[in-house]
Amino acid sequence: MRQSLVYALTLVQLASAGPVLRPRDTVTAQVNFNNNTGTPEHLASGLLYGVPDTLNQIPSHFYENIGYNYERAGGAQVAAPGRGWIWGLTEYKNRFKSALSNYQTAREYDATFIFLIHDLWGADGTQNSSAPYPGDNGDWSSWDEYLTQLFSDMKSNDMTTSLVVDIWNEPDGSGFWNREQDQYLQMWGRTYYKFREEFGTAVELSGPASAGEPLASNSWWGAWASFVSSNNSIPDQYAWHMESGTGDLLSAQAGLDYWRGTYGLPAKLININEYAVYDEQVPAGSAWWISQLERINARGLRGNWLSGTDLHDYLASLLGKSGSTTYYPNGDYQVYRYYYQNMTGYRVGTLPSSDLKLDAYATVGSDYARVLVGVRVDTGTWELELNSLSSLGLPTSGTLNVHTWGFPVGSDVHYGEVDEPKDLGWYEHAYSGNTVTFPVYQTDEVTAYAFEFIV
Ligand SMILES: *[C@@H]1O[C@H](CO)[C@@H](O)[C@H](O)[C@H]1NC(C)=O
Ligand SMILES: *[C@@H]1O[C@H](CO)[C@@H](O)[C@H](O)[C@H]1NC(C)=O
Ligand SMILES: *[C@@H]1O[C@H](CO)[C@@H](O)[C@H](O)[C@H]1NC(C)=O
Ligand SMILES: *[C@@H]1O[C@H](CO)[C@@H](O)[C@H](O)[C@H]1NC(C)=O
Repeated sequence: MRQSLVYALTLVQLASAGPVLRPRDTVTAQVNFNNNTGTPEHLASGLLYGVPDTLNQIPSHFYENIGYNYERAGGAQVAAPGRGWIWGLTEYKNRFKSALSNYQTAREYDATFIFLIHDLWGADGTQNSSAPYPGDNGDWSSWDEYLTQLFSDMKSNDMTTSLVVDIWNEPDGSGFWNREQDQYLQMWGRTYYKFREEFGTAVELSGPASAGEPLASNSWWGAWASFVSSNNSIPDQYAWHMESGTGDLLSAQAGLDYWRGTYGLPAKLININEYAVYDEQVPAGSAWWISQLERINARGLRGNWLSGTDLHDYLASLLGKSGSTTYYPNGDYQVYRYYYQNMTGYRVGTLPSSDLKLDAYATVGSDYARVLVGVRVDTGTWELELNSLSSLGLPTSGTLNVHTWGFPVGSDVHYGEVDEPKDLGWYEHAYSGNTVTFPVYQTDEVTAYAFEFIV
């Protein structure tokens, strides 16, 4: 129902005067075809959890067709007797088993694995208010013992290839670190050096994986940056989360640059190892996040808003299921598939609309130029401007024939089945001045669009 309505509306809009929608922005989103920004690596195709603990439960084509390349897990929310180290060795071992199986799945697809050792400890967000934390009352013995056990299990299970360790998850919020920041920083320095001593630089270290962005106004971030600078415990990846439904990556990157400048920290890979709120995990929101991440060359892992065993399933809400193990793709999945399979060649620079609502990711292949656009879960009309067409060998004026694909959701926003995007046909746009501009009619909050033309 929803699909056919979107389809019908969009065809009408493409063909004639648009519907009554508020124009949202006088400044358009832009694609600059003269700005080659390198080979696509589908940087946003990572997942937080989403992988079943039973190997091969999800058929391999679901991983392969989206170019799955990053995984982040550590046995969170495995029920008793699997609640982690703070409940004893047996409960730790069961959590480790879950993490190891997810690691093995990641290896099967050549995906890098981010190991969540706070989950294995037992601070997965479900811990009770008397749960112990590393270094309580100045006593580090349990944490040291835990790390000794962990190192031994990592080595005996060959869990050291393509491995990144997040030193702690969201230490700036009481859900995962219900202690002062100073105790966390002591834990950071201690743990950083223990890992380096054991594994050298073969195992990468990452952090602070904060809930907050590294904005210049974020004093928690300032204290972290100051500590890792003076303690010389700078991670291999700067990680934080974008899960508030606000904020954008150009601002966050500028904030990181501010703290790096203040404390003399080097540039490192940025990994937004949890991105998008649940409402944004729809085709439009995903296309928006893909554009944001690709622009600053950051890795991105989809956040996960499920819990319990569902947390370890559905590829972080890219799949639905009928029965216990028969999987099907959703609308969001089709965006990641197109992003990976079709957006090949080289990337070009883009800019979001000035209200930061419409964003675009674009590639130029040997046959087609492709522009994927998404609005950050809103409705309205925005403009898309494609610049420097002559750099693709096209004339500076004439008519551009544009093919449109729609990426709708199914009968259920998150778990309705969608097997392919909708072909919305071709439409001719007259242009001059080496630039073509046309409207994007966002009549619902969920559909993403791709525009293609022959080069
Ligand atoms: C709270 O969790 C700890 C483990 O972190 C456990 O030892 C303790 O028994 C739990 N307390 C209650 C009241 O469940
Ligand atoms: C880094 O911090 C840890 C924890 O406080 C400390 O044990 C270690 O000596 C510090 N290392 C350096 C080089 O400052
Ligand atoms: C994307 O590429 C795949 C693999 O080449 C192809 O089967 C599919 O039809 C393409 N999809 C679109 C929307 O062009
Ligand atoms: C090219 O695009 C990148 C990524 O969006 C941007 O950082 C850079 O400033 C752009 N270069 C030019 C010359 O516009």
